[in-house]
Amino acid sequence: MRISVVGNGYIGLATAVGLAGKGYKVVCIDNNSAKVDLINKGKAPIFESGLDDLVSLCVCKQKNLRASEDYRDIADTDITFLCVGTYLSSGGGTDFTQIAQAAEDIGKALAKKNGYHVVAVKSTIAPGTTEQVVIPIIEKASGKKVGTDIGVAVNPEFLEEGKVVQCFLNPYRIIIGEYDKRSGDTVEILYRDFSVPIIRTSLTTAEMIKYASNAFLAVKISFINELGNICKKLGVDVYDVANAMGYDPRIGRKYLNAGVGFGGSCLPKDLEMLIDSAQKAGYEPRLLESVRDVNRDQPLSMVAIAEGIIGGLQGKTIAVLGLAFKPHTDDVRDAPSLRVIASLLEKGASVRAYDPMAMDNARLVLSQSIMYCDSASQAVGGSDCVLILTEWDEFKKESLYNGKVVIDGRRVLDPQRARQICDYHGICW
Ligand code: UGA
Repeated sequence: MRISVVGNGYIGLATAVGLAGKGYKVVCIDNNSAKVDLINKGKAPIFESGLDDLVSLCVCKQKNLRASEDYRDIADTDITFLCVGTYLSSGGGTDFTQIAQAAEDIGKALAKKNGYHVVAVKSTIAPGTTEQVVIPIIEKASGKKVGTDIGVAVNPEFLEEGKVVQCFLNPYRIIIGEYDKRSGDTVEILYRDFSVPIIRTSLTTAEMIKYASNAFLAVKISFINELGNICKKLGVDVYDVANAMGYDPRIGRKYLNAGVGFGGSCLPKDLEMLIDSAQKAGYEPRLLESVRDVNRDQPLSMVAIAEGIIGGLQGKTIAVLGLAFKPHTDDVRDAPSLRVIASLLEKGASVRAYDPMAMDNARLVLSQSIMYCDSASQAVGGSDCVLILTEWDEFKKESLYNGKVVIDGRRVLDPQRARQICDYHGICW
């Protein structure tokens, strides 16, 4: 089977490289010529550990991966994975612009194709979008009927940034939402050597499974953060509580790391879109709204703790260690650091920021009035208070914090040891 992948962000590239690595012939379609050029030179256009090597292997050695700006190349393949990004509209719902454009471009390419072709949606989209938006656009642009010449599936990904290729190759389960049996069978062939459960559902159920999975992770995080806020007031360490709770397999220890909250391009956006879908369907999702609200407020509690310890922030210098939304990525989208820094600046503080990997991306979205430092020690030196927002290994070095006021938002330091060398405070422990 020959494969085309439309959209070459994290999901698209992991899919392309993962399937090329298994020997399939793959073409990556993207309208960003810089990305296409990079891939064709054997380089990954995004930072992901190990991805560069795999792109290079497939493009330069195996020669079964290439990139193209020409959507007509889709017609030479048997299955197209639709992997373009999805965004929040200004009203909080899904902005369909990119997905609709990609569906139209795919449809136009399929108009001239002879033979059966499957379009499998991997982009995270609101339940019902494939049936209500993607299929009508493909049918109109191709002049063909889905269910005859064209099959459609929804095949969501559960990739974690920082290890997307490992996640693609070692999933917990594979979800295939299908328009009809033939569409689902075609997608399933690609996964025949994956020894994990393959779950076949309707298109809309598959879309909901993806949203529900991310929303549930968000629920766990906001739950433990709220519990942490309560525990801190009662003098209890929430990590002792989480560790003990985690032994119960019905609960599980994962995603119970209390801290400054969840960021990134997925959890916050997908939660927002699920809330929007529920409201449009006439249901007020109070639990999900609370999960969002707890997460929105959590980063600001670091600022409040700082104010409580060092007094008003006007004229104070605050070191912010960690800008990425999590370690091992340069991604700052919806990172808690953005809210914390905005609040610090609003209160008149000077900010000295450092991140081992995300400085360039941070410069694009953060105020120019902060000082970007070359190292953690440069950021910490001369500061009145240090805030730790990402659990990078280099921030574990205790000697960095000698004599400082430190507020740890990610449990980077061991509280007992840290209290011997600095004025240590946990965000919610
Ligand atoms: C998330 C999901 O984990 C993936 O399964 C999903 O495929 C992906 O979204 C997506 O929809 O594409 P990712 O955005 O890479 O993956 O981030 P996570 O590793 O899940 O972390 C999200 C945020 O939660 C981070 O800011 C992290 O620091 C925070 N987090 C995570 C906590 O605050 N506590 C925890 O215990 C775990």
